[in-house]
Amino acid sequence: MARYAHITGWGMGLPQRVMTNDDWAQLVDTSDEWIRSRTGVVERRIAGEGESTLTLSMEAARQALEVAEISPAQLDLIIVGTLTPEYVIPSTACLVQDGLGAMHAAAFDLSAGCSGFIYGLSMATDSIRAGNCQHALVIGAETLSRVMDWTDRATCVLFADGAGAVVVSGSETPGGVLSSALGSDGSGGDYLIVPAGGSKLPASHETVDQRLHTIKMNGREVFKFATRAMNKATRLVCQKANISLEDVNLVVPHQANHRIIQSAARSLNLPMERFVVNLDRYGNTSAATVPIALCEAIESGRVQRGDHLVLVAFGAGLTWGAAVVKWGVPLPVVPTAWWRRLSRWLYYRWARMRSLGVRLRRRLEEWRPFRKNNDNGGRTPSPPPASREQDAQPAESQHQAEPVAAEEQTPAAESEESS
Ligand code: ACO
Repeated sequence: MARYAHITGWGMGLPQRVMTNDDWAQLVDTSDEWIRSRTGVVERRIAGEGESTLTLSMEAARQALEVAEISPAQLDLIIVGTLTPEYVIPSTACLVQDGLGAMHAAAFDLSAGCSGFIYGLSMATDSIRAGNCQHALVIGAETLSRVMDWTDRATCVLFADGAGAVVVSGSETPGGVLSSALGSDGSGGDYLIVPAGGSKLPASHETVDQRLHTIKMNGREVFKFATRAMNKATRLVCQKANISLEDVNLVVPHQANHRIIQSAARSLNLPMERFVVNLDRYGNTSAATVPIALCEAIESGRVQRGDHLVLVAFGAGLTWGAAVVKWGVPLPVVPTAWWRRLSRWLYYRWARMRSLGVRLRRRLEEWRPFRKNNDNGGRTPSPPPASREQDAQPAESQHQAEPVAAEEQTPAAESEESS
């Protein structure tokens, strides 16, 4: 029986703070008129204290799970598309997994610039179609304000913060993600780059002084690439899904610049009314733009069951990606019953307690050897000299003789134990 991957839940998380063009005009040599006419952005959200890629992701994820009416424990896969993860290690996806209590999910971050959400959607779809996964959570989340140069007027006015998420679920009902197409061109990597903080230029006083941990962009070249990529990717996915451009009811494009979207509409010969545009309110939130715009389109009644949607993005890498979705979920969604909201609230509290419990147990496990040592009058005994027989033992049999340390247990085993 063929399997299909449907978007069954959606949500978004936005920072509280709104920053207008006039606010920027007080910080750098720019104007509301320049930003509006060259980009289309009017205001954007900027993360404040206590807000980060993780907190925004969590908000979006919880909403998406609520709409999909599934428990975090039913998730098999969590993908976070982001350029601005919570840390370099661990992945933001693992932190989301822990925060949600999604104890059966694999989790990883995906770095594909602004195309990260579409890449994630495509990976999740393939995994569902292959039968490896039933429910996947795909998030696009960014706090670009933390990596942009607040003195560079050519970039700072464009970027912003936010997160969007979808739940993708396996089904036998035809429809859902019909096709996807992904591409890259690394030769354009230096058009949009954060030069330091990686293995080539690790953080140092010099890199910080030279602002090398912030985004450097060749806007004109990215612009040219973007207009070509949007056109090519949209045509390709429609061809793969076996639909014509006229069949497309709505295009949800990456929200980088109003002029890029207009150019795509012209080259695809589609009216602007078929494009979702919200960059005037949110700016460019990179991997988060497409899921946020999708959420808003659904909530404002622009999506109906049976519609063909094209999601399309381009970004750092350079990368591009697109997907055709045949909408399968009846809309509008019935509001969640109070008792469901309560049980979800209790679940998240339990997930937090469980996480704290597991951390505490690890601490105790770490502490145990010292306790043993202290039994010996507080002196740390020197290890006994290895006998010749031990030296001669093959490595495998030595391992068998040793007890399995708590840290070596699989997470699955661990979660079963603790639940
Ligand atoms: N306010 C006032 N003047 C400005 C500003 C500003 N904020 N920024 C640039 N200028 C000036 C420039 O200095 C330049 O002045 P000059 O002619 O005296 O040198 C002039 O405006 C024109 O500069 P351009 O770069 O040619 O402006 P352009 O019309 O190309 O617009 C922009 C710049 C908005 C950046 C555009 O090129 C663009 O949108 N590019 C695509 C960027 C993009 O999509 N990036 C996201 C990629 S996705 C991801 O992965 C994050």
